Amino acid sequence: MTAIASTASPAHWEPLWHSRRRYRPLCQAEEQLMAEHLGPGEGRPALDIGSGDGGLARHLHHELGYRTTGIDCSPSAITLAAAQDTGPGPTWQCLDIATGDLTTLPDTAYALITCRLVYRWMDDKPGFLSRVRRLLAPGGTFWVVTEIAGRRATTDPALLGLGISPADAELLTAGWSVARTADLDVLRCYALRP
Ligand SMILES: C[S@@+](CC[C@H](N)C(=O)[O-])C[C@H]1O[C@@H](n2cnc3c(N)ncnc32)[C@H](O)[C@@H]1O
Repeated sequence: MTAIASTASPAHWEPLWHSRRRYRPLCQAEEQLMAEHLGPGEGRPALDIGSGDGGLARHLHHELGYRTTGIDCSPSAITLAAAQDTGPGPTWQCLDIATGDLTTLPDTAYALITCRLVYRWMDDKPGFLSRVRRLLAPGGTFWVVTEIAGRRATTDPALLGLGISPADAELLTAGWSVARTADLDVLRCYALRP
């Protein structure tokens, strides 16, 4: 019997990055939502979880002014992200958020934690959320961008499976003192505060 790799593991993602798979880049509308919901970083620490080739982490660092660390479980993604820096930029670290040692991160608490097109793939979502809460500074923001199920006009099960279910959305938003949302076509952006 062949074991199926967790969708939150390097075994799942490394071959995709290695085979040049790429994901939806940031657009102006998404950048505008971040400007409205996150505000200026002013040198405070930010952590982008599942940073991929680094577009979001670079935006947080260079445009919003957060001192950003991007982590990803795929070594190829981290190499790709780091190769795009032409000067001082985000810190890149290969780390599995589900199983890795969080004490190896550069900061113990983050004013902003982001997670774009990643939550869907966390197979232990409660475990993932509790690790995020451990790293989020008091008064910090957890920014999640995820596709919502049922928004695509398609019957392709692979595409339909990209969205999170209402139960997963409820789990994501439970227990925060503030939970704001903004919609962007098939995506929903969440600004969550403890
Ligand atoms: C769909 S891609 C999105 C990449 C990037 N956030 C973006 O918006 O383009 C999901 C990313 O999450 C990373 N990932 C998945 N599971 C992870 C884990 N357990 N720890 C860290 N990164 C993970 C993958 O390697 C991949 O780069």
